[in-house]
Amino acid sequence: MAVPFVEDWDLVQTLGEGAYGEVQLAVNRRTEEAVAVKIVDMKRAAECPENIRKEICINKMLNHENVVKFYGHRREGATQYLFLEYCSGGELFDRIEPDVGMPEPEAQRFFQQLIAGVVYLHSIGITHRDLKPENLLLDGRDTLKISDFGLATVFRHGGRERRLTRMCGTLPYVAPELLRSAEFRAEPVDVWACGVVLTAMLAGELPWDQPSDSCQEYSDWKEKKTYLNPWKKIDSAPLALLHKILTESPAARITIPDIKKDRWYSRPLKKGGLSKHIRSETDFSPVKSTLGEDRMSYSTSQPEPGTGGTLWDNAATSIDQLVQGISFSQPACPEHMLVNSQLLGTPGSSQSPWQRLVKRMTRFFTKLDADGSYRALQEVCEKLGYGWKKSCTNQVTISTTDKRSNKLIFKVNLVEMESKILVDFRLSKGDGLEFKRHFLKIKAKLSDVVSTQKVWLPPT
Ligand code: ADE
Repeated sequence: MAVPFVEDWDLVQTLGEGAYGEVQLAVNRRTEEAVAVKIVDMKRAAECPENIRKEICINKMLNHENVVKFYGHRREGATQYLFLEYCSGGELFDRIEPDVGMPEPEAQRFFQQLIAGVVYLHSIGITHRDLKPENLLLDGRDTLKISDFGLATVFRHGGRERRLTRMCGTLPYVAPELLRSAEFRAEPVDVWACGVVLTAMLAGELPWDQPSDSCQEYSDWKEKKTYLNPWKKIDSAPLALLHKILTESPAARITIPDIKKDRWYSRPLKKGGLSKHIRSETDFSPVKSTLGEDRMSYSTSQPEPGTGGTLWDNAATSIDQLVQGISFSQPACPEHMLVNSQLLGTPGSSQSPWQRLVKRMTRFFTKLDADGSYRALQEVCEKLGYGWKKSCTNQVTISTTDKRSNKLIFKVNLVEMESKILVDFRLSKGDGLEFKRHFLKIKAKLSDVVSTQKVWLPPT
């Protein structure tokens, strides 16, 4: 029986963009359930149909607390839609303060959850191959979830391990053997990336551009020059663990069972060690975890829902309907739905739950009107020598190079919200930590016009 409005999903915000396409937040109009929808245009790359097929196939195998859940997928012409658990806490890198990191107990907790997720993936023979803070998301309870299986592959099948040959990942996070050897084992490469993530969490910077002898910072590490950054910011106990993880020889590198025995790793968490970012689940309930489990069993093993006479026959939900038939209302430019509706000046409009939900640190309110905010931002960016290009109404694309001479591109949206202008920065290309450094630099230069009002209100 059709439930009124249950099939109505609104695409309310862009959560991320990449070469593949984009990830949108879809919210059910009636139930307010939230799911992330990865939208992949298969025409974009020649090898794309094969890649996306593999990503879907791997996603179907996954079911773990520390891995983003997969609800199902659907193809419409050349577009693939992947329906994924929505992680309202955003990316791990948004919890890393540039050049500082985060409190050690918080880093320990995230690291333990990362290792739990990686242990699970390895136990089913999957290697992620691109572990980095941008691919580690947080849910509403600050539980870490490994995301984006676009580069993942099977390294063990039927109990037999296969060595990898393909060079992929992100240079600062890749293990040295990947750059040196024709063949390498999968598990030590993921372990290495976890070590780089731990360094970023504890020091707020990446240790090197790449782990090769041509890179001074890497040579310094091998020579144990831990009086240098980032190591000098890290306490001796976690540093001892990093020595074992960031060991050049994959054969000598610590394994996960031994990481679990490490003194710092297994040190009891400080009382009240849960992050201050934690929010109540009553705030807004993006797909309850129990429901997530149910959806999981259906999406992995029941390609034809409702035919098996099993539990989900009675429990057909809005997510089933979303997976079975695309039914979201899709504004021409969803990113600007808020802008448009707010600019129309809806009387008494207040923040909807999803607006409260989406939490990022790269945004601020200004004390100026839209024109003033735009001009102030333009002046600062021009003074800083950034490339400036108006992309569309209320959006500019800013480009520069970071301290490693890598391209850094971000988009800034100016959004009117409750008669205030929200300046919202989003990374398009480049390193996440560098992006945040540049954001903070621009924000500091605009300090006269930045409002002290917090962007996201506490739950009502
Ligand atoms: N960005 C990419 N995937 C996401 C997800 N599942 N939840 C929230 N933000 C995301």
